[in-house]
Amino acid sequence: MAKFSKATDLEIYRSKLQSAYDPNKPRICVCGGTGCNAQGSIKLVDALHAAVKKCGLDSTVEVKVTGCHGFCEKGPVVVVRPENTFYVMVKADDAQELVETTLVKKGVVDRLLYVDPASGKKVVKEQDVPFYKQQTRIILSENGHLDPTSIDDYILRGGYSALAKVLSANSPDAVIEEIKKSGLRGRGGAGFSTGRKWELARKSPGKDKYVICNADEGDPGAYMNRSELEGNPHLVLEGMIIGAYAMGANHAIIYCRAEYPLAIKQLNTGIAQAIEYGLLGKNILGTGFSLEMKIKQGAGAFVCGEETALMQSIEGKRGMPRPRPPFPAQAGVFGKPSNINNVETWANVPLILREGAASYSSVGTEGSKGTKIFSLVGKIKNTGLVEVPMGISLREIIFDMGGGIPNGKAFKAVQTGGPSGGCIPESLIDIPVDFDELYDAGSMMGSGGMIVMDEDTCMVDIARYFLGFLGDESCGKCTPCREGIKHMYNIIADVTAGEGSVEQLDLLEELAGVIKDTSLCGLGQTAANPVLSTIRYFRDEYLEHIEQKKCRAGVCKALVEYRIDAGACTGCLRCGKECPVGAITGNKKEPHSIDREKCEKCGICYEVCEQGAVVRE
Ligand SMILES: Cc1cc2nc3c(=O)[nH]c(=O)nc-3n(C[C@H](O)[C@H](O)[C@H](O)COP(=O)(O)O)c2cc1C
Repeated sequence: MAKFSKATDLEIYRSKLQSAYDPNKPRICVCGGTGCNAQGSIKLVDALHAAVKKCGLDSTVEVKVTGCHGFCEKGPVVVVRPENTFYVMVKADDAQELVETTLVKKGVVDRLLYVDPASGKKVVKEQDVPFYKQQTRIILSENGHLDPTSIDDYILRGGYSALAKVLSANSPDAVIEEIKKSGLRGRGGAGFSTGRKWELARKSPGKDKYVICNADEGDPGAYMNRSELEGNPHLVLEGMIIGAYAMGANHAIIYCRAEYPLAIKQLNTGIAQAIEYGLLGKNILGTGFSLEMKIKQGAGAFVCGEETALMQSIEGKRGMPRPRPPFPAQAGVFGKPSNINNVETWANVPLILREGAASYSSVGTEGSKGTKIFSLVGKIKNTGLVEVPMGISLREIIFDMGGGIPNGKAFKAVQTGGPSGGCIPESLIDIPVDFDELYDAGSMMGSGGMIVMDEDTCMVDIARYFLGFLGDESCGKCTPCREGIKHMYNIIADVTAGEGSVEQLDLLEELAGVIKDTSLCGLGQTAANPVLSTIRYFRDEYLEHIEQKKCRAGVCKALVEYRIDAGACTGCLRCGKECPVGAITGNKKEPHSIDREKCEKCGICYEVCEQGAVVRE
């Protein structure tokens, strides 16, 4: 067991690990993120171990479970290193062939290679896959290489060198100065300057101080923070320890939702290892600096991601926000000065201090430095996690990395910033992605959820959906949020039912302004964004619903009817078989018809009819 009593002990240990490490040793790296696990990577790992043994390679080949590789759409993902042969959708049954062909015969299993839909060509190497090729992976750079349960693997790759450097050579003020110089802005949503926030916490007097990691991640479709914690927990821990040193904190709390069991497991393992090595706990690296770290599991309420509600929840109270001031830096959790940052913000810290602020800030735009991780979901070919430099366009993310829209459909909009973000239309797809540009477009960066929508999405219904979510998640403490969101929801529901009026659109805009200006916390203050952005960019769709009683996407059931065009129907029976409520009748080779009383307007008949005989009107 290693226990470092000074920074040089760590460096000596790292050198030993590096000399013992053979980069040419064959390693089968299996993605162990939650997405790949759900698709069978746990069984696959067992099968790979058995296959390696059967081939007599167990002493020369390592089967390694790594963090999330990000290409969730194609999981389970396997990379055989050092050649970086890249396999997708690998099943336990493929293990024997994979090992024999790749490691015994030194060939490639053709059928498990990724096929680039744009060129139709198979791609052999990980670095040539378009999904990865265009990314700038800094925070996620080690995810496909290291074993998240091994602190040695992290140390081998430079881990904890920033902490050692800071503790031996930098004053707390110098650390804060470096973070300020880097231009790092919080990745949890508001984009506040991390260095300035740390400075406020440092200056706040008090014997006990707290640093908190916000791993609540409640946005629908977002899982960046989960993967960061699952895949490289020590990066976040190192960032928090450095931050605590800079701010003079002696307590650290990670607030992580209980629905993230793997992230919590990796964090518990990481904390225990860091304590064992003398990198956390009492007298860190013999410097006299001590930090106690705990995990608090949250019950999964969206509002508990809001910093003041989160602190209430840590204290064991109902998670509800409170007015500021006092700000957390003055009186936070248990009334003590506290600083809260998002998982990804903390993960950036060791990288900034390792490479220096100048190198870090060479990536990004004037006002937004570094990279940002997005979870790409919705109507997109390559669902997954991408890390991109700030300033890249939405088009590059959605089409070059995301592979575009499936099933030949057209792109319609992208929602950034979580449920209280905005919907950005096709006309703005070339805007650079950074905090300020997204804000100007009526949306926001948020923590990194990116939901892509195609032509079959009704933008009025989308606004209704997000308002419904926010209404359910509103804690109810302040009236504008509790009553106002409900009221806006009812108006939008009227529009989707064909019972809206143009005057109601004006009322919606007026209500949105009042709720924004008078709500207690960010939930209410931003709740109107989906409504305002869809009215701003898709007003014609609202007017169609109101004036023509028409939903062009065919989503709002009250405004849609299906009928069968007798001239086009060949009587193939397909629609009748698929209809879940038996609303379609007709004999083989004779035109069918739909019973409108029974029809639930699910649209399955429309989807499955190859003759185009089912008409939606
Ligand atoms: C309703 C609501 C939910 C939030 N959820 C999260 C969350 O899940 N994770 C997060 O880091 N920040 C979340 N925030 C933002 C936090 O209040 C806070 O600004 C953030 O944790 C600060 O960290 P940063 O400076 O590193 O961004 C949320 C804010 C609101 C209003």
